[in-house]
Amino acid sequence: MEFFVKSGNPEKQKTGCLIVGVFESRKLSAPAQQIDDISEGYINAIVKRGDMEGKFGQTLLLHNVPGTSCDRVLLVGCGKEREFDAIKYKKISGKVIKLLNETGATEAINTLPLLNIKGQELYSKVRFAVEAANNSLYLFEQLKSEKSETRRPLRKMTLFIESRADLAEGEKAINHACAITAGQSLTRDLANLPGNICNPTYLANLAEDLAKEYSSLNTNILDESELKEMGAGAFVSVSQGSDQPGKLICMEYNGGDKGDKPLVFVGKGITFDTGGISLKPGAGMDEMKFDMGGAASVFGLIKSVSEMGLPINVVGVVAAAENMPSGGASRPGDVVTSLSGKTIEILNTDAEGRLVLCDALTYVEKYDPEIVIDIATLTGAVIIALGHEASGVMSNNNALANEIENASDMANDRVWRLPIWDEYHEQLKSNVADFTNLGGRPAGTITAGCFLSKFTKKYRWAHIDIAGTAWKSGADKGATGRPVPLLSQIVINRAK
Ligand code: BES
Ligand code: MN
Ligand code: ZN
Repeated sequence: MEFFVKSGNPEKQKTGCLIVGVFESRKLSAPAQQIDDISEGYINAIVKRGDMEGKFGQTLLLHNVPGTSCDRVLLVGCGKEREFDAIKYKKISGKVIKLLNETGATEAINTLPLLNIKGQELYSKVRFAVEAANNSLYLFEQLKSEKSETRRPLRKMTLFIESRADLAEGEKAINHACAITAGQSLTRDLANLPGNICNPTYLANLAEDLAKEYSSLNTNILDESELKEMGAGAFVSVSQGSDQPGKLICMEYNGGDKGDKPLVFVGKGITFDTGGISLKPGAGMDEMKFDMGGAASVFGLIKSVSEMGLPINVVGVVAAAENMPSGGASRPGDVVTSLSGKTIEILNTDAEGRLVLCDALTYVEKYDPEIVIDIATLTGAVIIALGHEASGVMSNNNALANEIENASDMANDRVWRLPIWDEYHEQLKSNVADFTNLGGRPAGTITAGCFLSKFTKKYRWAHIDIAGTAWKSGADKGATGRPVPLLSQIVINRAK
């Protein structure tokens, strides 16, 4: 779909559909009032009849509204005016696009960005509307023999803004939004693909394809034998149980100056997590195809940054492996030597994410990073702590944690910080090795973060546990594309 920004009088436009907001109870927004004026009270009459209360999520499609040049007017309930915030705005924007896609309108004018939205400026109003539109139209149909067909899809949407002077800012917001959702869609596609298709080799091939597509992107891939030779014993201890060879995939986006230290993002890419010898229970195990959600978000970020062409250096590293039980798999109790030289007692082969990540985190020291952020579907415990709303953040640097929290607010992609105090490290003590990979049930997300922090002392680092946010279960089972908006925002803010 194509997006444009425009200023002027929305009520005078010729369009397939004009989208206007109505607040609770029956309070017309300014654009709705303008339509009411030129139609001599048509809108208010409908509202008075009780067909549109302005309740949040309510919609009413009108045809041939007198006095206008538009084929349709869509009234959209926005709820209480004072409670209209970015979350509601995004929800309603997505819903409207889905609805219009089912009508005959192929283009529309959206006046919702003209509304007051708590704490939001023009840039984010435009950006969120476009993000919501693109995300709501996402479908994963690669593996279906029959694709769904929209008879007359919405092709063009014009977002109305107050002033001509803001047109450039609005266009920038559209470009950013489309880049972010292009990244998010890639993330969703990868995460939705099953383990028999999206394996480490598939991801490595994708990285090479991306490097061909974007000239500022270089890819470098280490295969399992190189990792073994290098001494990445923790990574290999996971990968060795699978017939699929593991890969460490490095993507370097060079948008900045040569000497500029890169922002480094490391993704957990377990393309399927059976638990290994510490086998997971069968129920719901299919969802462990999403265990490469962190890696998928790194691919999505690289795509979004490349699309925006941001003037900054970014490195994406993906630790791709499959966690399988086999004659070659690691046993509980095995001790392995990580790339850092530290020894690890593997008390549970299902705590594999931290094993592949710790070696990737040591490896990225070679980039002399400005910051390092790893993204991982690391613990079921983060779902107990934060549910499916917020991703968990842990960091060895308060300024970086604040930066992430700030970007999270700006991108409307929520996080919540958890501590990794020294006291928690006690839970990782081993009688035979430097430490174990298992912290026990209390504070499971935190002890996983503590484990990683032992490998990240040489740089400013944060860890984002996305096990609760990367995908949805149930009837709408599928990847969300989070936290690509957050990661993109971090890079946008740094590139300024
Ligand atoms: N990939 C899982 C984490 C996970 C589990 C995410 C369920 C989403 C839903 C991870 O590799 C894992 O198995 N973690 C274990 C750690 C435990 C063995 C310390 C967990 O969370 O149970
Ligand atoms: Mn696991
Ligand atoms: Zn896992």
